[in-house]
This record gives sequence, C-alpha cells and structure tokens, in this order.
Amino acid sequence: MCGIVGYIGTQKAEPILINGLLRLEYRGYDSAGIATIENNGIKNIKNKGRVNDLLSVKGIENLKGTIGIGHTRWATHGKPSSENSHPHLDNSNTFAVVHNGIIENYAELRKDLESKGYHFLSETDTEVIPNLIHYFYNKSNLQGELKFLSAVNETCKMLKGSFALEIISSDYPDSMIVVRKDSPLVIGTSPTEHYISSDIPAILSFTKDFYLLNDLEFAYLSRNSIKFYDSALQEISKTATSIEWSAAAAEKDGFEDFMLKEIYEQPKSIRETIGSHIIKDGKCIIDGLDLSKEYLQTINKIFIVACGTAMHAGLACKTVLEQICEISTEVDIASEFRYRNPLINKNTLCIFISQSGETADTIAALKLAREKGAKTIAISNVIGSSISREADYTIYTHAGPEIAVASTKAYTAQIMLLDILALYLAETLEINLDKVEIIKKELLEIPSKVEECLALAPEVKEFANKVYKEKDIFFLGRGLDYSSSLEASLKLKEISYIHSDAYAAGELKHGPIALIENGITVIGILTVPHLVEKTVSNLQEVITRGAKTLIVTNQDLGDKKFDKVIRIPEASEYVSPILSIIPMQLFAYYISKEKGLDVDKPRNLAKSVTVE
Ligand code: G6P
Repeated sequence: MCGIVGYIGTQKAEPILINGLLRLEYRGYDSAGIATIENNGIKNIKNKGRVNDLLSVKGIENLKGTIGIGHTRWATHGKPSSENSHPHLDNSNTFAVVHNGIIENYAELRKDLESKGYHFLSETDTEVIPNLIHYFYNKSNLQGELKFLSAVNETCKMLKGSFALEIISSDYPDSMIVVRKDSPLVIGTSPTEHYISSDIPAILSFTKDFYLLNDLEFAYLSRNSIKFYDSALQEISKTATSIEWSAAAAEKDGFEDFMLKEIYEQPKSIRETIGSHIIKDGKCIIDGLDLSKEYLQTINKIFIVACGTAMHAGLACKTVLEQICEISTEVDIASEFRYRNPLINKNTLCIFISQSGETADTIAALKLAREKGAKTIAISNVIGSSISREADYTIYTHAGPEIAVASTKAYTAQIMLLDILALYLAETLEINLDKVEIIKKELLEIPSKVEECLALAPEVKEFANKVYKEKDIFFLGRGLDYSSSLEASLKLKEISYIHSDAYAAGELKHGPIALIENGITVIGILTVPHLVEKTVSNLQEVITRGAKTLIVTNQDLGDKKFDKVIRIPEASEYVSPILSIIPMQLFAYYISKEKGLDVDKPRNLAKSVTVE
C-alpha cells in the first residue's frame, strides 16, 4: 500500500517524480504529493485525489529542484485529504519525509513529541517521523553527513511497525537518505543520478541496475555516489543487481488497460515460467530449489499459505500435490493461518505464494512456520522482494511486471510453477513417475491452449455485454472447478463491483439456492470429467428456478439448455484451472469496461497489501 518514489540527479525532479508516481498508483490512489529542494528550501505540493490532479495544484509548475521525493497514498491513518497526504514536514520545515508502511506506536510517539512542544497538522502515523528526526538532529553534537544520518537512525530505533522512508533536508540540499524495514524500496542507479521506488517497473525506463536494501540498512545518496550503512552506522558495501525486464514490459503496449495486456501476455508468461524451471535432460529442475529424497520422505504434510488470488492458485494445485506427491496438502489464508496456532513441525513443508513478495500477512505466516521448525519455500514474481529474504528457498514465477491491481498472469504462472513443483517433488521421491511424464507433456502444451482460450474473447464479450447490469452473479463448480469459481468470482467483484459468490455446486441446496430467482446469472465451470454430470444436475436446478446460465467447459454437454457455452481446450483436471480461468478473466474485464469503470485501479483496493 502506498507508493514512494525519489530522484537525485541533474535533471528537474518534478516530471520524473510524477512519471514514477503514475506507475505506482496501483499501490494506492486516494492522494498524492511531491517535495523538492528549491533554492529557498523545501517546497511541498500535495493534494487529495489522483496523481494527475496534483498537476493542477498551484506552484507545481515552478518546481526546479533536482532532488525530490513523492508519494501516492492508500489511506490508513486519517481520511484522504491534503493535510494527510505525504510528504510530511517537521515543524521547522527542515526535513521532508515520505513513508510506506505503518507506525504502530505513533500515538505514544506523538504524545511524547507534543509534550516537547511539537505540534501536528495531520492525523497520520507518518508525521511523527520528520519531527523525531528534527528532535534527534537538534540534540546531536555530530557534524556533516553523520549528523543527518544519525538523526534518521535514532528515529528508526523509536519506530515500531513497517516503513520504507525517503528523507530530504534543506540543511543537506545535495543529499537524500533512504531506509526500509518490512516495506519495499529499491534504488535504481547510474553514474550521475539515482532513482528510488517502491518497485522496479516504475523506474525501469531510467535504469536497469538496482540496489536492494535489507531491513534497517541505510543509503546516503548524493548525485554521484551512494554510501550504505548498517543499523550501527558502519559503512557496508553492496553490489547492484541488473534486472532483465524490459521497460516496455511495464508499458501498456497498445492495449487499452494493463489488465487486458496482462491477460494476453499469459501464453508468454507461462512459457517463460516453464522455460526457467522445467525439464532439463528430461527431469524437472527448479531454479533455486534443492531438496533431497531423504528430507522429502520425512514430510507428512504440505501447507500452502497465501492471500487473495495467490491463495486461489494454491487451491488449484492441492489435488496435484496430494495425488502425485502422496502428501496431505492444506491450503490456508495467511491472515487466518498466522493466528490459529497451526500444527507445524520439522516434518511440515510450508509453501508461501505472493506475487509481490510484500504481503504482510503472508510474510508473517512464513516467519511463524520457520519459528516452528518447518522448511519454507516462497513463490514470488519479484526478485529480491521481502519474502525472499525470509524463506529457506525462493522460486520465481517469470510473469514479468504485473501492474493491474486484479492479478491475472501472476495467477496462471503460480499454478504452473506449483504444478512443476509437484512434479519435482514426485520425481525426487521417485513415485508416480508414469503420471509425472504425462503431466509434463501436458504442461508443455498449456501455452498454446491458453492462446486458444484467448481467441474466445469475442464470445465472452458478447455474453458480458448482456449481463453487465446485473446486481448479483453466482459461480458454481466442483473439485478444482470450485477453486476456479472462487477466483472467477473474486476477479468479477474486484473490478466490476457486482456482488458475486462462488459455491461448491454440491452445497447449492444447503442454502445458496434460496438466492436464485428469475433472471439471475449463474456461471458453471465444468472441467473435471467425473464431476460434470453432477454439476450439470445442479445447474438444471437453477435453470428450473429461472436462472440464466453461462458454462465454461472442456466436455461435450450434449443438447443441454444453457444460455451460452464457452468451449475451452481439453486438458486433464490437474492443469485445466489454468485454462478455465482465462474466459473468466475476460468476462470480468469486459463487464468492468462496459460499466465504464477503472479496470486497472478498482476502488478501495491496492495491489500490494503491506498492512494486516
Ligand atoms: C491484494 C491484491 C490481489 C492479490 C493479493 C495477494 O489483495 O489486490 O490481487 O492477489 O493482494 O497479493 P500477493 O502480492 O501476496 O500475491
């Protein structure tokens, strides 16, 4: 939640900051602001609303400074307003700060600062930070850079919670300090200028070389140098990492929206995920993973833990893990798992899935599993993300940057990687090798089958345009089709604001059928052969009660009376969730478009949820 961006160099900072903020808006978009260092001190411009609204704030056109910080907000403490927007300054206007994260003890810090004579202009947790810096700075006998750095370090010691911070000061007009703890921040670098951001894609058009900070490491930036310090303020050395993503990958590339582009990128993102891991000399090899047969033989339980769409990817792979690896597998929501004292020990293998690698609940759940002695594998799409620093092993989906808030290509890449993981585990355990070979072949055919699913877009659009005014839409499925229904329903509610629920079709008669009345839309997903007839019967029950039905299937359903049948390519039930979700992603997309909504930035949501 919240995006931060920074620039220090020789060019005017303002357009670079705005450009970065526009790309980070998916992280929060209820207010925005920038501060630059001008000849007469810090100039701070902020406003409620989108980044583009900031461009009409008086004075922005006069900013000439070549050092600046920016923020786009997803409100936690205090409503969206100009006062609560970042950057926040201390009372003497010497320090300006942008912050992503949450300061849990801000109330006591604020009270303490008030008792020392500081006053506050906002309701935010962040405003204590510049004032604390000012307090420690005034108390310090140090000189030069170290004085600034030490005031920031002393401040960080006081903060409980998570933070990625950028700090500029009118006393240091050629410098900036950045630090992070449990919130993302990267530093893009070139010989004479540096870019700071919450994520890599936002600044990918400026540089491909990045420094990643660990928790409580500081970077002291000048135009032509960066010095790194640990929390004892000892200088440390770091090596920049080169990122392979192209800048074009973070652009819309001719598509109307990022979401549509990302839906259409799925054949490529799945191919790249397969290509990076699977089948070298006929065997599954997972880059970054090295588990022995002896260790796997001690495992009696797998937990998959994640939030939102990533959790649904786990559900879609429970069956393949249980049936191919013969290990009982449980899928849990991270925010539940972390507080329910789950039964875990060294014989449990815990897999955590997070596209961003920054989701607070997933990271906390991972830490818990480690404390209890389990081995942990993180699946992420973002190299160097926080989760990778915590897990025993991190394996990457290669979906490329996903910008739209509603996750699409990350989801299918996660399923693909989990499928490959299941094959890897079975091969290592030397069990079910005949089934492994069959699934391996199937996985390689998936990208072209996804292309076939994408070709169904006109049919999906036609149906979407008929039902976009509905108030409720229900999804039904059994087995893996139930997990796909959950994801299809989530996609729809996220971006169309239509109320939607997914039910295991067998549960219909235990309550949900009371909601079915004349004209209501019910979508059935039917790809698990031995369950098709049963779901068809359940659909018949809703048709009898007047429902309109859309069916997504790879089976021949004969002449059953459905309003629309979308026929997807055949595949075994292990891999069909990758295919059945494609028309459902398109369905949500076209409904949202028809309603004239902002597909990429749905209301109240943020792509990366770094708070509980
Ligand atoms: C948010 C996003 C979802 C995403 C979930 C988990 O809710 O809006 O699209 O599935 O977080 O995110 P992660 O980065 O951990 O996969």
